[in-house]
Amino acid sequence: MSKRLSEDFLWGGAVAAHQLEGAWQEGGKGVSVADIMTVGGPDKERNITKGVVSGEYYPNHEAIDFYHRYKADIALFKEMGFKCFRTSIAWTRIYPTGEESEPNEAGLKFYDDLFDELIKNNIEPVITLSHFELPYHLVTKYGGFRNRKVIDLFVKFATTCLKRYKDKVKYWMTFNEINNQANYDNDFLVFTNSGLHFNPGENREEGMYQAAHNELVASARVVKMGHDINPNFQIGCMIAMGPIYPASMNPDDVLAAQKSMEKNYFFADVHVNGQYPAFLTKYWTRKGFNIDVTQEDLADLQAGTVDYIGFSYYMSHAVKKPEGLNFDDMTPENSQVRNTYLAASDWGWQIDPKGLRYALNWFTDKYHLPLFIVENGFGAYDKVEEDGTIHDSYRIAYLQEHIREMKLAVVEDGVDLIGYTPWGCIDLVSAGTGEMDKRYGFIHVDKNNQNEGSLKRSKKDSFYWFKDVIATNAENI
Ligand code: BG6
Repeated sequence: MSKRLSEDFLWGGAVAAHQLEGAWQEGGKGVSVADIMTVGGPDKERNITKGVVSGEYYPNHEAIDFYHRYKADIALFKEMGFKCFRTSIAWTRIYPTGEESEPNEAGLKFYDDLFDELIKNNIEPVITLSHFELPYHLVTKYGGFRNRKVIDLFVKFATTCLKRYKDKVKYWMTFNEINNQANYDNDFLVFTNSGLHFNPGENREEGMYQAAHNELVASARVVKMGHDINPNFQIGCMIAMGPIYPASMNPDDVLAAQKSMEKNYFFADVHVNGQYPAFLTKYWTRKGFNIDVTQEDLADLQAGTVDYIGFSYYMSHAVKKPEGLNFDDMTPENSQVRNTYLAASDWGWQIDPKGLRYALNWFTDKYHLPLFIVENGFGAYDKVEEDGTIHDSYRIAYLQEHIREMKLAVVEDGVDLIGYTPWGCIDLVSAGTGEMDKRYGFIHVDKNNQNEGSLKRSKKDSFYWFKDVIATNAENI
């Protein structure tokens, strides 16, 4: 087996439309769920307002103005040697409310131009169809993905994109981090995944499973239809992977970790195997959940299995079986504990490079499909020196350790890996907190949490480091 990554390994960077494009009302764009979320902080949640409220600050409205500056930014990606670039298509640029019968040509043209610019620079576009960008209208009218009507609207949007860009884009993903909502007690996660708001007393977990099911069906229908449009398409799912370890060798904790993994990653089972695993349908029965799953849905799931697994990896987790509770009643809140072997970022995300190797092997053992690491990175405060330089050695250290483990997974363990696109290759708006000061980029953007700054781009130390990693195919790591 080769000791090297393959020569066509896809090195690049990843972003999402709503976190960098800005221009929230230009080119006929409609309001998305990202447009009504305010700025938060390490210990402060983002507010989800009822529509756009005057006087509130919405960081995604301008973001880093990639919409107008993408050519210069792509030139910097090219300088770093990117082979690919992952972004998403903002649904509201194509169908502003989600319900129009005809797509918005200005929105389609924007992505034509963006993809042309990438291709001109030999950078392969890697495209997510839904990255926390649901049209807000579909929340107010239908309650988001809990309503089956939204399946059809998503399929319509996706069909438009797959047909329009069929000769420009080969790598697609359907729903970004579809499994975040497994943490159904978290308002932000269910809203950004599925546009869900819950009323007091509603069964949040059952509501989440219904919305997730509708998304899984929508995804399968899009995969099937995509393969008909262009048999060369590679269409993947996108899973937020944070392996869950047992907090001790106590068999209760070992089983608690396994049960937590099942609840978080059954989404991948459905995407890959085209059917629900028995542990989940039995769990639904025990809980008395009544999920609307039709015969046609089951056939759709079977017909639209994915070609690869895209996933994000930032950290791992650990669980301890809560005293007096059974496995069915475990939630992240009552079972997750801090891993005392690991340090954490300023936002409390535990740093675990070996967890990435573990994750790559876990996916491979379970699903036997090619993998694509489409997000990984270190959110940190950066300091701009007086001469304008930014010495982000902590970011280089994080990425270097993760790339080392990734390489081991490939060259020693034989994992089939398509590529690696670190998250937020250019500083952008944090999804979780709405901050600009939580930075991931190789490229600094002059803008802060208070909406101040010139938006000027500058290269951090990590820019030159990553350029060398790509040029040498990580030979020196
Ligand atoms: C993932 C998302 O959850 O992690 C991205 O796909 C997000 O949209 C990234 O930005 C990092 O999270 P955060 O909260 O630091 O922006």
